[in-house]
Amino acid sequence: MLKYIKTMFTEILKTNEASIKKAAALIKAGETAAFPTETVYGLGANALSEAAVKKIFDAKGRPSDNPLIVHVSCLEDVYAVALDIPQSAKKLIGALGPAPLTYIVKKSDKIPAVVTAGLDTVAVRIPAHPAALALIRECGLPIAAPSANGSGRPSPTSAAHVFADLNGKIPLILDGGECGMGVESTVVDFTLAVPMILRPGGFSKEALEEILGDEVKLYKTALNGPAKSPGLKYGHYAPRCKIEVIPYSSETIQSLIAAYDYYLRKNIKSVIICAYTYVNDLGGREYVSLGKTAAEAARSLFKILRENEDRYDVLVCHTLPEEGVGRAFNDRLLRAAAVNKFC
Ligand code: TXA
Ligand code: MG
Repeated sequence: MLKYIKTMFTEILKTNEASIKKAAALIKAGETAAFPTETVYGLGANALSEAAVKKIFDAKGRPSDNPLIVHVSCLEDVYAVALDIPQSAKKLIGALGPAPLTYIVKKSDKIPAVVTAGLDTVAVRIPAHPAALALIRECGLPIAAPSANGSGRPSPTSAAHVFADLNGKIPLILDGGECGMGVESTVVDFTLAVPMILRPGGFSKEALEEILGDEVKLYKTALNGPAKSPGLKYGHYAPRCKIEVIPYSSETIQSLIAAYDYYLRKNIKSVIICAYTYVNDLGGREYVSLGKTAAEAARSLFKILRENEDRYDVLVCHTLPEEGVGRAFNDRLLRAAAVNKFC
């Protein structure tokens, strides 16, 4: 018997005043809409409505025990969704305003349990993208929004990526072009005596410590072990092919070439994904450049995974030095590779 699958028409509109109004009207009416942020695209719904938020989980196929980030447009609105904001978080919000930074704080009763997966904390973020801020203001509501990918897929850094995963499942995608950062926000737990980074992201540990004038801890989790942030326990960011990770070292280039040649001998189609500095030494082997800086590499990682997942059986990619946005790059690459694909 044929199974009837309910789908809807997914419209893509360039971001402008009219399309932002349309997205806001949908969200106010309890629907979802995808929108650009400076990190990755988000799939938004009214954070105060349980029924609306459930539509996010359904569209993404996201496990219900993985909480969402609530997006607001100003400090006063952070107060509206949080019960208590520690001094360190206040200092950062005051100094930065909109930023690729997510604050975990005690939650107010206004936020339904479905948003926080039953936790007594809430993740709050003021996104720095003008279209995201305009959308939140037009709604006059806090917007719950995870990355707008199908659960487990690489995060979307363009409207086309959102469409590829969620076509037929959401009514509207606001197209604001490619995201500037390309990796998600840094998630920091401020409910602890010393703030702790649960997920490295677009805002670096070094920059956080500089503003706070104090140490910030970095949560280290085994890739498949118990997780402090629920999202960390799931397979994430995985392309449809295998990723072979080459640890960054003085021998990165030799290791990239050895891995590529190994697959070539086995008749397995592979490609080297590497920093620009290595491309002249690859001796004609197939490659995709990550650009010249860690910021460029982070911006292009998810896009490269999506563009090459069906072209190759194996992506051979090296990590970056574990500093700045390189930490976020390494985290995403290792998580993507941890979801094993055999070839
Ligand atoms: O840049 C971003 O953060 C993007 C854009 C759209 O803002 N959003 C995003 O959301 O990456 P998502 O749902 O893909 O990732 C949110 C992460 C998950 O790992 C989740 O488990 C964690 O934040 N999280 C949310 N609420 C939490 C809480 N109360 N305690 C600990 N972790 C939490
Ligand atoms: Mg995500």
